[in-house]
Amino acid sequence: MALSTRLTERFRLAHPIISAPMAFAAGGRLASAVSDAGALGLLGGGYGDEAWLTRELDLVTPGRFGCGFITWSLAKKPELLDLALARKPVALFLSFGDPMAFADRIKASGAALICQVQTRHDAERALDCGADVIVAQGADAGGHGQARGTFALVPEIADLIAMRAPETLLCAAGGVGDGRGLAAALMLGADGVLVGSRLWASAEANVSAAMHAAALAATGDDTIRTQVMDLARKLDWPTHYTARVLRNAFTDRWHGREAELAQVADVEAENYRAAWAAGDPQRSNTFVGEVVGLIDRIEPAGDIIRAMVAEAEARLGRFA
Ligand SMILES: Cc1cc2nc3c(=O)[nH]c(=O)nc-3n(C[C@H](O)[C@H](O)[C@H](O)COP(=O)(O)O)c2cc1C
Repeated sequence: MALSTRLTERFRLAHPIISAPMAFAAGGRLASAVSDAGALGLLGGGYGDEAWLTRELDLVTPGRFGCGFITWSLAKKPELLDLALARKPVALFLSFGDPMAFADRIKASGAALICQVQTRHDAERALDCGADVIVAQGADAGGHGQARGTFALVPEIADLIAMRAPETLLCAAGGVGDGRGLAAALMLGADGVLVGSRLWASAEANVSAAMHAAALAATGDDTIRTQVMDLARKLDWPTHYTARVLRNAFTDRWHGREAELAQVADVEAENYRAAWAAGDPQRSNTFVGEVVGLIDRIEPAGDIIRAMVAEAEARLGRFA
């Protein structure tokens, strides 16, 4: 039994899995390892560091990777879209903002447009933009997102797609850390999954050893959704987005005291950025989702994908 879905057919993949475009962590090594394993690997274009993006684009194979951008940030450096499209990505992934301004350019290039959304409202907008794939991201997810849970959001958007644009594909994101999550997502009506945290905990991710160690020691209870990291980094995140990270001394100190943090942001920003650059999980934050409680090893991305698919196949086979 193979997990053949509309996603595997459309993108000619062996497995219905896309790796998340995780800022900083998802570079060319991870994207290539994921694509080599038969899934679709995405580069994390993040906040738009041109030198970083150019370097990582050199590590991927044209036609066998995708690239993600944080939409509100891309609006500040739209030229980065051309940089990515020139390397012939299979797909361009946008999340956190209105994709309309970029949709036509992406689709005209021949790349598929993948829109990650956190609400039904934004899924409607993604359909207006002609999204080829919608990723429904629930609040279990690591990194930025909103409040809705994966379990009800995915089937609600599956129903919306069936009604409005049945040719559009759907992936579930947020809380998929093993074959159980993959099987459940398919049962909820998704054509595949977008996996972030589990692949963040891989040998090919650009993550410090100390942050990996912090994640291995944590359970899902140790995560929190908060905005204090963005205040400390002085990033212009729209206020309806929070991010899930591992709790630590920094979040314990500032979560709930955002107004005070904003007043000392200049000093904190310098400290935070230095700690982040050093990969220090105590003075900056480990961005990871609730699936951290399912992760007990850092493994090669290809092994993670193969194990996830084998487990999902076995579980689905039991009910066949
Ligand atoms: C370390 C990390 C960084 C992330 N950075 C981004 C990003 O830059 N852009 C983006 O669209 N999503 C980002 N995400 C969210 C992912 O796209 C995805 O929705 C999420 O990882 C899925 O949930 P999971 O972590 O439970 O697999 C990030 C997630 C993590 C864990």
